[in-house]
Amino acid sequence: MILGKNGVPVAENFRLEQSTIPDTVQEGQVRLRTLYLSVDPYMVGLVFQRCRMNEDTGSDYLLPWQLSEVADGGGIGVVEESKHNNFAKGDIVTSFNWPWQTIAILDGSLLQKVVPELVNGRLSYFLGAAGLTGLTALLGIREKGHVTVGANQTMVVSGAAGACGSLAGQIGHLEGCSRIVGIAGTDEKCSILVSEMGFDAAINYKKGNVAQQLRELCPGGVDVYFDNVGGDISDTVISQMNQNSHIILCGQISQYNKDVPYPPPLPPDIEKIQKERNITRERFLVLNYMDKQEASILQLCQWIQEGKLKVGIFTFNLCPLILSPQIRVPVRETVVEGLANIGDKSNQKLNFYNSASVISKDTSVLPSGTSFQ
Ligand SMILES: NC(=O)c1ccc[n+]([C@@H]2O[C@H](COP(=O)([O-])OP(=O)(O)OC[C@H]3O[C@@H](n4cnc5c(N)ncnc54)[C@H](OP(=O)(O)O)[C@@H]3O)[C@@H](O)[C@H]2O)c1
Repeated sequence: MILGKNGVPVAENFRLEQSTIPDTVQEGQVRLRTLYLSVDPYMVGLVFQRCRMNEDTGSDYLLPWQLSEVADGGGIGVVEESKHNNFAKGDIVTSFNWPWQTIAILDGSLLQKVVPELVNGRLSYFLGAAGLTGLTALLGIREKGHVTVGANQTMVVSGAAGACGSLAGQIGHLEGCSRIVGIAGTDEKCSILVSEMGFDAAINYKKGNVAQQLRELCPGGVDVYFDNVGGDISDTVISQMNQNSHIILCGQISQYNKDVPYPPPLPPDIEKIQKERNITRERFLVLNYMDKQEASILQLCQWIQEGKLKVGIFTFNLCPLILSPQIRVPVRETVVEGLANIGDKSNQKLNFYNSASVISKDTSVLPSGTSFQ
């Protein structure tokens, strides 16, 4: 990490260095080869989200990256040497504290073993649909959504074409909502949400009157709102929420660069509606529910295997610096190859559905039955 200015993260904010790691692994430690790193909005997201690049990350659970120190985040890799009882050579492991290094030595307590068969060998899923993103969508709905099978509930999802949103809409159906309406920023995204992700309808918030479209598409009002974005979109949705309905306060991506507390206060007229209609709006943080992580990941993997959590193919035309300019990836992931390209990827103006960076394509390091995308 090197010093940047306010605004969109750019390649110049990152420096790639060669360094030597210790020859010996200490008791309790594990030496790892990195396979994928996750690049998420909370670290160097797209279009102005750069929480971990700011001194104040805007969140009490995220520490800022330090200048000239190695960036870290979600990662997945293979064990090359272990002096920790829980891990052996060849195990595939994941961590929320993975340094952006090709080879790393980590304390075993930071690692979790994963079973590649659970995602049909597609390891990057453990950073997305079967990882923190999937957990956020599932646990957000279960903990804050009050979804009841047979209750004929309508759920609206903002940021619906994003990593969390696209899963949240699908999971809303799986958990019992009868109608799911997404809000996204292009016609193409809206069309994919409906044709491939099982949303009942989607609104392009950059076109037309959102309030009017919402009224037409949610004639019985909104019972559950999975809120990823906050701001005007959320104010419009909240205005159409029913008595005793529920907001899942997942994120407020439109507000992250504003000097406001989190969660950002609602405008007075919207707050009045929220109070009068007894709409819950409790802060949700996936990391508070890690006791439910294992069972929830198993649930997500089961849905993936059963084809209930939709897997599609989408082709992004990535920037010229990325080795393979057209990369076909499943589950709406965006994968760039090579540590050197991560910083550059963070400057993409494209809005990715999910993002992972594959660090090594040396298939000899993979256990049988697993693959790179
Ligand atoms: N609570 C938790 O524990 C937890 C955990 C993980 C993530 N999160 C939060 O969940 C949210 C979604 O994360 P993600 O990983 O799904 O992000 P993502 O994949 O980048 O998707 C976010 C989507 O938000 C939309 N968006 C961006 N800026 C917007 C704006 N100003 N107004 C309206 N829409 C905007 C973009 O879609 P369009 O092009 O369609 O606008 C984008 O696809 C974030 O706020 C993140 O911080 C919370």
